[in-house]
This record gives sequence, structure tokens and C-alpha cells, in this order.
Amino acid sequence: MLEIRDLDVAIGRHTIVSVERLDIPAGTRLGIVGESGSGKTMTAMSIVGLQPNTAVVSGSVRFNDRELVGLSDRRLAEVRGRDIGVIFQDPAKALNPMMRVGRQVAEAIRLHMDLPRDRLRARVLQLLTQVHLPDARSLMRRYPHQLSGGQQQRVLIAIAIACDPKLLIADEPTTALDVTVQSGILSLLRELSVERKMGLLFVSHDLGVIQTISEVIGVVYGGQLVELGPARRVIRQARHRYTQALVSANPGIADDEHLGEIVGRQLDVIPGSVPALDRFPSGCRFRGRCSAEIASCAQPPEISVAGDGHIFKCWNPIEVVAGSEGDLDAAS
Ligand SMILES: Nc1ncnc2c1ncn2[C@@H]1O[C@H](COP(=O)(O)OP(=O)(O)O)[C@@H](O)[C@H]1O
Ligand code: SF4
Ligand SMILES: [Mg+2]
Repeated sequence: MLEIRDLDVAIGRHTIVSVERLDIPAGTRLGIVGESGSGKTMTAMSIVGLQPNTAVVSGSVRFNDRELVGLSDRRLAEVRGRDIGVIFQDPAKALNPMMRVGRQVAEAIRLHMDLPRDRLRARVLQLLTQVHLPDARSLMRRYPHQLSGGQQQRVLIAIAIACDPKLLIADEPTTALDVTVQSGILSLLRELSVERKMGLLFVSHDLGVIQTISEVIGVVYGGQLVELGPARRVIRQARHRYTQALVSANPGIADDEHLGEIVGRQLDVIPGSVPALDRFPSGCRFRGRCSAEIASCAQPPEISVAGDGHIFKCWNPIEVVAGSEGDLDAAS
């Protein structure tokens, strides 16, 4: 459904994002993970033309056979909201503080659909109920500040799904919320994705959150996709050294039983920090922070195939213990 090929996003002389190939088949939940500053937001937003004005996007993003790169702002705005819904990190900032909640949902519907008043109102009520907001009828008349952060995010999800999009892009939608509220929003997004066969591109710095929601995980570092594959494989049989560092910084992550305790937990950090845009080393961008660096790492790593749908870019990958691969596939 969504096919990305050779997507580059540049600001001035610096290429911030460089993704050779990434597909989101219809109804699939893809999680993008990486530390803050890895280029997750820039990647997700450039797909729907929401990159900063100073950024230049090249390459190809095809959504149901329609090319999105190079579309006018007006056409992209049509695609957003109707075909692709978008939700952001801070719900309070995304809502209009001066407008009642019901009206904001109605406006979102009216942008793309022409409905008579009574049907519009019924649709607003239906959407607020679908995102499990209690007492939707009275909630419609409230202003955003009268809602909790979790309720505000549910309203934004209602707005994003108002026109039955085939893909929802969610950039850290739970990061600003309490841990218990986060879990509720994650369950809601998973439920909506399954019921509506709606694809999800979910972005988070939190591997616990990503593991909870994703069928496929993409790991980004320095604006590049360094590993991509089925969620279990990427976490339990990480090949790239950066993925392994993320997993090791989250003890217990591969343990499904304790998943609930892991979401939102602050854990050990990877040594060093993500460099500024103009400070990445040549070759593999993780050089300098990687404990397994070898001479070849000074060259840009090529894509290697680890298994079905599982790829990575590392010159000195984690070796997989013989036999464990088959066991994992059989268990999943
Ligand atoms: N508007 C902007 N102008 C210039 N550089 C930016 C802008 N927004 C983000 N960047 C840079 O792009 C890189 C990736 O940022 P971002 O996509 O926001 O990372 P993430 O979402 O993973 O935290 C960072 O180096 C950041 O400083
Ligand atoms: S390519 Fe080299 S520096 Fe980069 S992650 Fe792999 S081993 Fe480390
Ligand atoms: Mg971000």
C-alpha cells in the first residue's frame, strides 16, 4: 500500500533522512524506533509532506499507486486526513483551545465529506464512542482544557480516523502521557488497526512501546534505516549493533510476560549521544559509539538479508547462534 524508494530529505548540505526501501502492506502495523534525534519524525512527516519548509524531499513515496513526492501542498492536504491520518506527540497543542471538541471533529469530517447536519452529528458521536470516550454526548460540548491528556489524544485519534484512512501515522502519540494512560492509547490504536484493516506507522523512542504495537519494526539511526524485519526477529535476533544496543538498554524487553512493566520505563542509555547533523562520521553513522567497529565500518554498510523480510546494514553484525533461527520462526 505504501512503498518508499530512495527517499532523501536534505536541509542545506546535510542529508537528514535516507531510506532506500520501506514498504507498509495494507493493514500492517510498522513501528519505527531510534533515540531522540535519529530522524524518526523527519522520516514519518516527509511521507505526507509535513517536513519543515527548508527541507528538500526527493525519491519516491507511492501510496496505493499514487506518487506523493512532488504533489502540491493542496493535493497533499487532501491525501492527509482522507487517505492517511496523522497524530502527533502533544495533544494539547494539536487541538484548538477555543473550539468545542464536537465541532473540531465535525470540521475534520467536513473537510473531506459533505454530510447533512444530523448525519454529521451522528458521525461525530459514533467516532467519539469508537475511541472509547465516556459520555460522548456531553463531551462533545466541552473545550479541550476540560479533558485529560489521554482524552485529548483520543479526540485527536477520532479526528485522524474520521474519514476512514487506510494508513495512520502516529508520531510518539503516547510520549506526553502517563504510563497507565499510554497503555490504553496503545490498545486503542491496535484495536482500530485490526478492526478497520488500517495500516499504522508508529514512531517512538521507546522500544517497549514499539514492541507492544508493531508487527514489523524498523530501527533508524542517523536518518537511515539500519535494521528492518518482523518484530520478534528484530528484538530477539537483532543483527545490527545499534539494534542490539537498544535492546540491551531495555532489559527484559524480549520477555513477553513482563511487557506491561516495560512500556514507558526509563532504562540504561547507550554510551554517547546521537551527534548533530553535521557531526556524523563517514561510513557507518554508528561508528564512535559502537563497540564492534572494524576497518570496513569506514565505508557505508550495504544491505544484508538475514531472513524472510529481515534486513540490516552492518559490516560486523551479531552472529546468530546456529539453530535458533528456525526455533524462533517455528515459535512465532
Ligand atoms: N526544522 C528543522 N530544521 C533543521 N534540522 C532539523 C529540523 N527538525 C529536525 N532537525 C534535525 O533533524 C534530525 C532528525 O530529527 P528528528 O526527525 O526530529 O528526530 P527524532 O524524531 O528521531 O527525534 C536532528 O538532527 C534534528 O536536529
Ligand atoms: S557497521 Fe561497524 S560501526 Fe556500524 S554498527 Fe556495524 S560494526 Fe558497528
Ligand atoms: Mg521525533
